Amino acid sequence: MEIAVTTAPADRRRTKPGSAEGLGFGNHFSDHMFLMEHREGAGWRDARIVPYGPLPLLPSAMVLHYGQEIFEGLKAYYAADGSICLFRPEMNARRLNRSAARLCMPEVPVADQLQAIRALVRTDRDWIPRARGASLYIRPAVIATEGALGVRPSAEHLFLVITGPVGAYYARGFEPVRILVEEKFVRAARGGLGEAKTGANYAASLLAAKAAKAEGFDQVLWLDAGERRWVEEVGTMNIFFLLRGELVTPPLSGSILPGVTRDSVLTLAREWGIPVAERPVAIDEVIRGAADGSLSEAFGSGTAAVVSPVGALSFQGEEVLVNRNRVGELSRRLYQEITGIQYGEIPDRHRWVQRVE
Ligand SMILES: Cc1ncc(COP(=O)(O)O)c(C=O)c1O
Repeated sequence: MEIAVTTAPADRRRTKPGSAEGLGFGNHFSDHMFLMEHREGAGWRDARIVPYGPLPLLPSAMVLHYGQEIFEGLKAYYAADGSICLFRPEMNARRLNRSAARLCMPEVPVADQLQAIRALVRTDRDWIPRARGASLYIRPAVIATEGALGVRPSAEHLFLVITGPVGAYYARGFEPVRILVEEKFVRAARGGLGEAKTGANYAASLLAAKAAKAEGFDQVLWLDAGERRWVEEVGTMNIFFLLRGELVTPPLSGSILPGVTRDSVLTLAREWGIPVAERPVAIDEVIRGAADGSLSEAFGSGTAAVVSPVGALSFQGEEVLVNRNRVGELSRRLYQEITGIQYGEIPDRHRWVQRVE
């Protein structure tokens, strides 16, 4: 793929945040973006890096009416040796294509996605924060751009990649989170869009998350749509429980996102000889386990936090502590191992880290 590069002139350069402190997430965007268009029958065309800015979009663009949109999220960061790295980016690229298939959108060849990401990160390398844990967040997305009304797959699409510096997730230390088990609303039903990374799933989650935040919770834990009994996942993370010494996580049954971090956690736990089960987990088993001590740890897994220990769970109006609201040994070990591999401090036995030369 040929990528035409138009760099931003000095007067279109954006102001970089002064330090990694207070960066937060999603507040800053780098100078450039990658774009390319797809038209049915013609394939992907016009790959280019251009200054970051507004997109020309018809008000009839199908994405605005029928929600045909998919996205990804990954990070570029400076490893200990000063090289710029990506963590398992081909998994994100393959997941984007699975989301594309579910939403009747064209796939973007994995090699082209990776080439676009690498070229963009190289162009905006000055935007990658150097503080340990801070990174350049990368957001690839595909939207339906055909100007037409009528519920059918769009014949035109735009693939875009934007990036922006984000702060270290644990700027104030590795702290357990407080989670509300959501009993009324559901995120996704089996057979729906749950396993695709598409805006609709996040739109569906907003109301419950807003109510939970207002009550002082960090996130909601979703239950299945059919029975409100089986654990699904947390807001933007997959969920794990250490129950009677076994590491348990819900299976990829179609309604949850197949997380890259989830896969990394399962791989490491299996290598360490920890019994692992991908099986349905009833919320009753979790709450009972927290109360009687058979649940020794619970944690979320995701790109942003890597591992996020759960310190308390609220269900049916009652709150139970997990591991007395302390960070568990396995949560800490997994966090240290994954971030150690990412930053080149622990040998990368699985070839998970890719350098951007
Ligand atoms: C709904 C949801 N589940 C799980 C995850 C974790 O996935 P990953 O480990 O690939 O970041 C995310 C984050 O992308 C998410 O948005």
